Amino acid sequence: MELYERIPNNVNLSEDKRLQRALEKWLPDYLDWWREMGPEGFQEKDVWLRTAVSVEPEGWAHFDYVRMPDYRWGIFLKPAERDARVGFGDNCGAPAYQEVPGEFRNPLRRIVVTQADTEPASVEQQRLLGQTCPSLYDLRNLFQVNVEEGRHLWAMVYLLHGYFGRDGRDEADALLERRSGNPDKPRILEAFNQPCDDWLNFFCFTMFTDRDGKYQLSALAESGFEPLARTCQFMLTEEAHHLFVGETGVGRVVRRTAQLMKENRNEDVRSLGGIPFDIIQRYFNYWYSYSLDLFGGEISSNAADFFAAGLKGRYQERKKYTEHLIKEDAFTLPVVEDGRLIERVVPMRNALNEVLRGEYVRDCVRALERWNKYIADEGVDHQLTLPSTRFHRHVGEYAGHFFDVDGSLIAEEEFERRRDEWLPAAEDRAYVRSLMHPVTEPGKIANWIAPPATGIKGKPFEFEYVRL
Ligand SMILES: [Fe+2]
Ligand SMILES: [Fe+2]
Repeated sequence: MELYERIPNNVNLSEDKRLQRALEKWLPDYLDWWREMGPEGFQEKDVWLRTAVSVEPEGWAHFDYVRMPDYRWGIFLKPAERDARVGFGDNCGAPAYQEVPGEFRNPLRRIVVTQADTEPASVEQQRLLGQTCPSLYDLRNLFQVNVEEGRHLWAMVYLLHGYFGRDGRDEADALLERRSGNPDKPRILEAFNQPCDDWLNFFCFTMFTDRDGKYQLSALAESGFEPLARTCQFMLTEEAHHLFVGETGVGRVVRRTAQLMKENRNEDVRSLGGIPFDIIQRYFNYWYSYSLDLFGGEISSNAADFFAAGLKGRYQERKKYTEHLIKEDAFTLPVVEDGRLIERVVPMRNALNEVLRGEYVRDCVRALERWNKYIADEGVDHQLTLPSTRFHRHVGEYAGHFFDVDGSLIAEEEFERRRDEWLPAAEDRAYVRSLMHPVTEPGKIANWIAPPATGIKGKPFEFEYVRL
């Protein structure tokens, strides 16, 4: 472990002078980007952050006060397994690839660039949120997520510089040039160009959109291209905290709304300064549907090719499955034909995006059930839901068609007529924004959200997580 190098790493960077020089040249550009697009107004503050100091499952993280620009962004890969093999597809059982297989150079670069682009994009989307934090605890969690997304960018840029030659270096530069939501140079994926300008958006984003990242990284963590697999395996350990921030953040908002309803049953939650369930529901519908798009088309020859080549597996391919060829299997899914939904049977390999999306959906349903239990625990009669996976889609089989939240095909006019019933309207967003006033006194919290069950790493909620 070269922890105190200019670029901390566990890939023996000092032995590869060419790569080291290239990354050291990228470093100041990265820091310029961070200062311009990172959290606005807090760059000089001490934040109680965790930093990766090892890649071992136990004790990889160190907690201390750090100024964000001094965060030890670095390159950490899970240690190599001895005798690693391709785990699935047509080359199953062959030695794992240590270099990019030639015929997959372009599509694999595209995968790495697309994943990489989401990391700085989310930092950009969230850059103003610190100014309206509901508590110091939440402020600290926001910054933890931000610096780790920055590190994930480093992880991907290492792959681009290390394995994709000149093209990879150009792509690494371009990652610092695109900007979330900028019409002239937008980020690649639409979910990462959506504004994330209030904390309900932030919690929904880390719940639903970051969770797509978990499943994409898990599929790539199975890759027969070993440097990619090992990179993603370590990123997943950091990602777990982001998902925790999202799931518990949404849960705390839901719990607080239920508490306010109970406090004064005849009162509108709005008059008590809470976020009503119908607005929360519309935020779910919005972020969930955009996040479903991130898995790609339901029927995809790219997905089949990547699986065949041993580059992108299924979720927990090695742990969960015993058969890794899936040459004969088929998958049935509803598609639109002649203005109605019919069932279509496709080869399983072509449906792997949809299979991965299914894993994600089950995970979201699990979280939803937990939130509904919070509501029931408060004695309030209400259930939040997730819309059909066909609702409000912009990618794949259902894009260009219109569905209600139950997944029934409807006319465009009906969708437009009911849009504000299903998706956040300007008025919803304005109301949520009107609640966003910063609470920065240690131990205090905004009225629209419940405090967390515990603090971070043994510290109490009252701990001074950020020194302002
Ligand atoms: Fe990330
Ligand atoms: Fe993340």
